Amino acid sequence: MHKAKVAIFISGGGTNMAALLYASLLDGAPFDVVLVASNNADAGGLEIAAAEGIPTFVHSHKGHSREDHDAAMEAALVKANADYLVLAGYMRILSDEFVKRWEGRILNIHPSLLPKYKGLDTHKRAIDAGDSHGGASVHIVTPELDAGEVLAQVRVAIRDDETPESLADRVKFAEHQLYPRAVADYVSRGYDADYLYERVRKLALALPETHARDSHGSPGFRVGTEKSGKFFAHFNNQHHGQEHIAVLVKTSGMDELLDLVEGQPDVYFKPAYYGASGWIGLILNRPGVDWDHVSEWLERSWRSVAPARLTRLMDAADEF
Ligand code: GAR
Repeated sequence: MHKAKVAIFISGGGTNMAALLYASLLDGAPFDVVLVASNNADAGGLEIAAAEGIPTFVHSHKGHSREDHDAAMEAALVKANADYLVLAGYMRILSDEFVKRWEGRILNIHPSLLPKYKGLDTHKRAIDAGDSHGGASVHIVTPELDAGEVLAQVRVAIRDDETPESLADRVKFAEHQLYPRAVADYVSRGYDADYLYERVRKLALALPETHARDSHGSPGFRVGTEKSGKFFAHFNNQHHGQEHIAVLVKTSGMDELLDLVEGQPDVYFKPAYYGASGWIGLILNRPGVDWDHVSEWLERSWRSVAPARLTRLMDAADEF
């Protein structure tokens, strides 16, 4: 099984980090913790990580610009060979450039039911508003604070005599269940055929005049009418015994196909049968798939078979 390498940044007690770390030690866990790093040398979680033999790294933010501090933390991430960065009570805002470089690979846990109560004092704000529940959310980190896609949430009841402290304690119990599950699901989804198919389907059907149609037992996508449409993509889930989950798209011919397969064998392969007529396999079950690249290939393949009246429309749209 593929195991994702996860680095965790903490600033404080690190109880969420500990929940993630011990979840990663269970049989069948889809991720390993390869680094625990902090901006605070006193962060309690550092000792827990060290006790389990996990590499730790500390770099105080004091006396450094945000960019310089981030650069030191990022260097530790790169050195640890991390695929993902998981923030667990890391009380620093990451610079936009850092977040962009790690786009889609940073998760955070926030102690509220987002989109409610971004920022600080979340428990007090939920109690003061008279909410029936507080809770926690796991979300993808984007440059805008606490605003990325929410992946999972857990609700925690607010009692009549609730204080921010008592609610914070119970939310943490809930977080310890939520975070390991959400991280496991997220790092696994790039290997999940249903998830990958859904992404390809969305991109393929966003192109003009397209529809889905099975071909030889695998899903495919065609452009043109239901009657006379032409295939521009096929989705393969470990077809003919190969290990790849892939989308097949049309190259300009065998020269280009062989060049790509030889030059980037971790990205491309020559599929059985289809390869002979210039279809190339774009491997999707691998780390760091660039979905803009997949989208460009789909459009190119679509263009190669779409009727001229549709490609002309596309060209006109591209000019704006
Ligand atoms: C957690 O409750 C987490 O949701 C919160 O800090 C706590 C860290 O506890 N995070 C934020 O407020 C982020 N803005 P821990 O160090 O014991 O895991």
